[in-house]
Amino acid sequence: HTQPAPFPEGFLWGASTSGYQVEGGWDADGKGRSIVDARTQFPAGTTDYTVASDHYHHVDEDVALFAELGLKAYRFSVQWTRIVPDGDGAENPDGIAFYHRLIDGLLAHGITPVLTMYHFDLPQALAEKGGWGSRATIDAFVRFAEILYREFGAKVPYWLTINEQNMMVLFGGTLGIIDGPDNADVNVYQKNHHMLVAQARAMELLHRTVPTAKIGPAPNIAYVYAESCRPEDVLAADDFNAVRNWLYLDAAVHGRYNATAWAYLEAKGLTPTIEPGDLEVMAAAHPDFLAFNYYATHTAAAPLEGDDVPIEGGDQHISFGEPGYYRAVANPHLPKNAFGWEIDPIGFRMTFRAIYDRYHLPLLVTENGLGAFDVLEADGTVHDDYRIDYLRDHIAQIQQAISDGVDVLGYCPWSAIDLVSTHQGIAKRYGLVYVNRDDDDLKDLARYRKDSFAWYQKLIAGNALPD
Ligand code: BG6
Repeated sequence: HTQPAPFPEGFLWGASTSGYQVEGGWDADGKGRSIVDARTQFPAGTTDYTVASDHYHHVDEDVALFAELGLKAYRFSVQWTRIVPDGDGAENPDGIAFYHRLIDGLLAHGITPVLTMYHFDLPQALAEKGGWGSRATIDAFVRFAEILYREFGAKVPYWLTINEQNMMVLFGGTLGIIDGPDNADVNVYQKNHHMLVAQARAMELLHRTVPTAKIGPAPNIAYVYAESCRPEDVLAADDFNAVRNWLYLDAAVHGRYNATAWAYLEAKGLTPTIEPGDLEVMAAAHPDFLAFNYYATHTAAAPLEGDDVPIEGGDQHISFGEPGYYRAVANPHLPKNAFGWEIDPIGFRMTFRAIYDRYHLPLLVTENGLGAFDVLEADGTVHDDYRIDYLRDHIAQIQQAISDGVDVLGYCPWSAIDLVSTHQGIAKRYGLVYVNRDDDDLKDLARYRKDSFAWYQKLIAGNALPD
């Protein structure tokens, strides 16, 4: 396309955060402990989440910044442990009040709230009772959903069920986010199955109780290329796509297990126990749209004989493979960011096409962004031209995807403000707004607009990429 289609009117230009990574106030006003709060081990030089960006105590200031930025949407997550501190017991009115305050603030500025129900932060009390290994957690999640719909259903038009369920399954052990230590031996695909049933019940419940609201899953979807046109490499990429991407979206959209992924689970002895009625519940639930997080594509090659440590590349997002199925390999055509993650804007367009061609549902990007070591200058500026380049290149590919015919609802880059990364501390920054703290020094937590803030503000105001 020489002349890409314009962004549709009402396109949801947004930005994204998650509760535990941004809020702090980890035990404030009756909040319970999540598995993230209970975590004691952090990689060297990184921080815990007790204070994070202290959004809990800066909420009005942060919403005012979002309004100044011109955001049309703000994607955030509620912490289950603020609402129901032990996961399945008494409600916490003060925790509920915090999210009313946030949502009311957004609405007062015309910003559409996009609410993630669950972003890695399972209540520790539930983890101690078996976490997602137990079917009781399905009921606890549905009850949590019921409370959320009762409280926020009339105010929140877009709902996301579970953030990156696929990353929880594939990397949750390493990141300490799948469950507590007590049930590490339970088949992760059993936990995955319980999450799929919980998600289906939550989708159905929203449609029944708040018919005006829309809901969808929010996995991390990344198209997998084959390293070459050698059929064995193409087959490996197909397997990787099935196990990483389609397993989750086929289940959410059609309520069934992807055949290739199921064959893989059978071969590995990892099939979950499916109770009578589960598949019917899953098939009866229908998302209204699909949200997805995108950072970069993967590249797969055929496995090597006797290959049991199929790792190549620098970080979790590429160092991944499955003996006998595929090897994840580095893509020599792509640059890498400071943390070894590949950067692939055209892969973003490919990912849009691949999802839309399979499911024909509107797509909402709930994360995409660049982690970097930003520098706060003495005059309070942050010159993150590398982030502007990243965002521009990816947004240009959204425009191409729209020109391809993909129905895109909006784009919420990660992250609205700096926050604590999943495993690399706050030194790894993603925000449009700088938060003045380090991993070992809380400083004054003041907010500073980065250069990317002004750039994104201009883009939103014009509903087009600035010249
Ligand atoms: C996604 C998560 O995996 O990527 C976020 O949904 C996370 O919670 C983001 O912060 C960036 O990853 P990281 O590891 O750099 O924090």
